Amino acid sequence: MAHVNVALIGYAFMGRAHSNAWRQVSRFFSTSLTPRMKVICGRDPKNVKAAASQLGWEESATDWRDVIARPDIDIIDISTPGDSHAEIAIAAAKAGKVVFCEKPLANTVKEAEQMLAAVTKAGVIHMICHNYRKAPAVTLAKQIIDEGRLGRLYHFRGTYLQDWVADPNVPLYWRLQKEKAGSGALGDIASHSLDLAHYLVGPVSEVTAALETFVKERPLPDDPKKKGAVTVDDASASIVRFENGALGTIEASRFATGRKNYNRFEINGSKGSIAFNLERMNELDVYFTADEKRVQGFHNIMVTEPEHPYFKAWWPAGHIIGYEHTFIHTVYDLLEAVAKDKLPSPNFEDGVRNQKVLAAMEKSAGTKKWVKV
Ligand SMILES: NC(=O)c1ccc[n+]([C@@H]2O[C@H](COP(=O)([O-])OP(=O)(O)OC[C@H]3O[C@@H](n4cnc5c(N)ncnc54)[C@H](O)[C@@H]3O)[C@@H](O)[C@H]2O)c1
Repeated sequence: MAHVNVALIGYAFMGRAHSNAWRQVSRFFSTSLTPRMKVICGRDPKNVKAAASQLGWEESATDWRDVIARPDIDIIDISTPGDSHAEIAIAAAKAGKVVFCEKPLANTVKEAEQMLAAVTKAGVIHMICHNYRKAPAVTLAKQIIDEGRLGRLYHFRGTYLQDWVADPNVPLYWRLQKEKAGSGALGDIASHSLDLAHYLVGPVSEVTAALETFVKERPLPDDPKKKGAVTVDDASASIVRFENGALGTIEASRFATGRKNYNRFEINGSKGSIAFNLERMNELDVYFTADEKRVQGFHNIMVTEPEHPYFKAWWPAGHIIGYEHTFIHTVYDLLEAVAKDKLPSPNFEDGVRNQKVLAAMEKSAGTKKWVKV
């Protein structure tokens, strides 16, 4: 079987999730291409060497430019913070590599557009890692909508809640600095809800939003006696209008005490509704107005049957899967797209579209007015 050589840049949280995905994908899916985990790149030579050995990469490197220059590398997987996505992705595209990039695509619309222009000009395959699309229950939701089973769509209600910075003593990590992260809860987690909204309902045309930073100063990671300014939002709340007439809300917070990774959406249409909650990611709640009144009501689909998306590769019905599987499904779709020389979904076009809506939300929060996308 043909193979492709993969290089991963960044190896902490997402790097570990991606490493696991590259390692597992051909063990469970009949992929047209087998990925070889060639090289992992970080900045600290000792740590990246240890990561290579633990995560299963053949080699380690400390300069992503050297990695991109290697003719034996086919796919560049970017799992670094947002301030380096554009530079790495554009260089990778120019070198003719397949580019797989974490979300949000970039820190600004301009960077995101430059990235899309670079991959388009180079004619290379590109993908953005909005992995929640690849939870089988979410892909099933998409099938249900595309089959017209919800009828005309009226509402999208997206909520992505965490609480990891509610403690004011949490240090000023890169995720709390605008120059590194672009934005806070908005780009980090509202971007996922927004991607699901685009995937399931369609393009957003207009937004109004509010952003809030509850804790404005935090201890510096390297010198906790000193404090630095938090330059991103802790929470965002927005109302969105879709081109197809649907109305939605997207709320994201890092201050929702007790909520760890509460990624939920509900969609209501003329013929029924669906609801998904990542905390019960193997399930999809559905309601159909056509059901006989006596037995009508939300019912629960256990999305673990071989007929369900991606599930044939896994376990017998009812034997559930988890968070890491969404990444395995994402790289599976990427590999199949590369094998067929087709663009996978979601790709940099989706990334640019999301970035434009995020920017419109930020603008609206500043002007306190509706903003067209
Ligand atoms: N898809 C998801 O659900 C999801 C979840 C979390 C994070 N993310 C995204 O993944 C990306 C990384 O986030 P994270 O949580 O893994 O961050 P992290 O801080 O845990 O890891 C970032 C890694 O990048 C490395 N790095 C930074 N600059 C580098 C450089 N110039 N060269 C090589 N390595 C470099 C760091 O050393 C670290 O290993 C971000 O874009 C983030 O938004 C996506």
